[in-house]
Amino acid sequence: MAKDGNKGNPQRDDPEKRLWGGRFAEPTDAFVARFTASVDVDKRLYHHDIRGSIAHANGLRAAGVLDADERRAIVEGLEAIEAEIERGEFAWDPALEDVHMNIEARLTELVGEAGKKLHTARSRNDQVATDVRLWLRDAIGDIDLGLVQLMRGIVGLASQHTETVMPGLTHLQTAQPVTFAHHLMAWFEMARRDRGRFQDCLARANVSPLGSAALAGTTFPIDRAASAGELGFDAPAANSLDAVSDRDFAVEFCAAASLTAVHLSRWCEEVVLWMSPQWGFVTLPDAYCTGSSIMPQKKNPDVTELVRGKTGRVIGNLNALLVLMKGQPLAYNRDNQEDKLPLFDTADTLIDCLDAMTRVVDALEPNPAAMRAAASKGFAVATDFADYLVRRDVPFRDAHEIVGKAVALAVERDVGLDEIPLGDLQALCPAVGEDVYGVLTLDGAVAARDHVGGTAPKAVASAIEAARRYL
Ligand code: ARG
Repeated sequence: MAKDGNKGNPQRDDPEKRLWGGRFAEPTDAFVARFTASVDVDKRLYHHDIRGSIAHANGLRAAGVLDADERRAIVEGLEAIEAEIERGEFAWDPALEDVHMNIEARLTELVGEAGKKLHTARSRNDQVATDVRLWLRDAIGDIDLGLVQLMRGIVGLASQHTETVMPGLTHLQTAQPVTFAHHLMAWFEMARRDRGRFQDCLARANVSPLGSAALAGTTFPIDRAASAGELGFDAPAANSLDAVSDRDFAVEFCAAASLTAVHLSRWCEEVVLWMSPQWGFVTLPDAYCTGSSIMPQKKNPDVTELVRGKTGRVIGNLNALLVLMKGQPLAYNRDNQEDKLPLFDTADTLIDCLDAMTRVVDALEPNPAAMRAAASKGFAVATDFADYLVRRDVPFRDAHEIVGKAVALAVERDVGLDEIPLGDLQALCPAVGEDVYGVLTLDGAVAARDHVGGTAPKAVASAIEAARRYL
């Protein structure tokens, strides 16, 4: 016994505190009590725990385990406890291990004998699995809202920049001109899929473990479909062993969150690049930047860097859950208690990051002149030149070669493709006509890509229209 650890904390020595203490002759070792307690983390589930307990009490009443007075006492007691917790008056006791036993012990304190009947036909195993699924459903709702707000911001900014031309990049090298709106709407599509992934996760997570009890089900005639329906689940889970043990829904959630975070990190990286003085495509207001303690000139995009950085935590949490589940035999194992920290942290972090990104998008001040100036360097219209030659019956491979030579000439003379005199272009390829200069403009290049998914102002405007309808 770790006597020192127990000193001054009579509750820990009080075997009565342990709702499972019947077979135990000795008090729990103080270290073990601290090591196994999870209440500091899982007390956050109190609202969902109470909802689940009320549904269970209603089920026990229907099954004839509780009489009407007992059911009412339990429900009123649980509601009183919820109010105590919300007023900050609830005395959380680590000796009672977790949120479930803290609430149950207080219930019995408040309503007496009826409280002791609530755990009939139930185990903490189906209880916690129910609580976490209920909690996750709300978390997905919050994340969905965050995604929608971000998508609204993206669409709003995009709608002002269907004519703003910027360099489109591959390998971070100038490739072809695109519109800024087109770039932003690429973010929108990523976010749309992120939403879908959370909804997919929800569809599988939204089943009720309640009634699975410890692992094998219960001997009492409780109506699992009724409690599932009361809690807004789509159905009772089909197998009790599976329902109390698997946390695949949490893994799926963290996987969806990881992909979303990876998307956010990519956008943030772009904002960081755009904001560097070398690019100057955007600025962020002072309120969204921080300075350097030594370099007086600095204005740093820390918010975007932090979103990028927090992606590491979100991915780490996914990894933690996968490893937590790996090799676990059926059914419930205490390992599963470790699911909550990564799960909670993932939701908190992602909700914060979505909020941060929405603010960044709303605050972003684009510099269209700088974007256009950058697009006009690097021969972004070279492909348009080659396409022009193809329309004049030059096979594409030959056209590629000819334009390559024209680019080399332009590099040598330090001019743009449109500044090479017609005679010199015709020396490279007789098929070139005066009208070539019309396709060698940035606006001509973007306007020419006028099809579904293309970068033309018209195409992007209809993508924005469709996005608005979707939202
Ligand atoms: N605090 C536990 C958890 O989060 C509740 C279930 C404990 N069940 C048990 N048989 N020890 O998983």
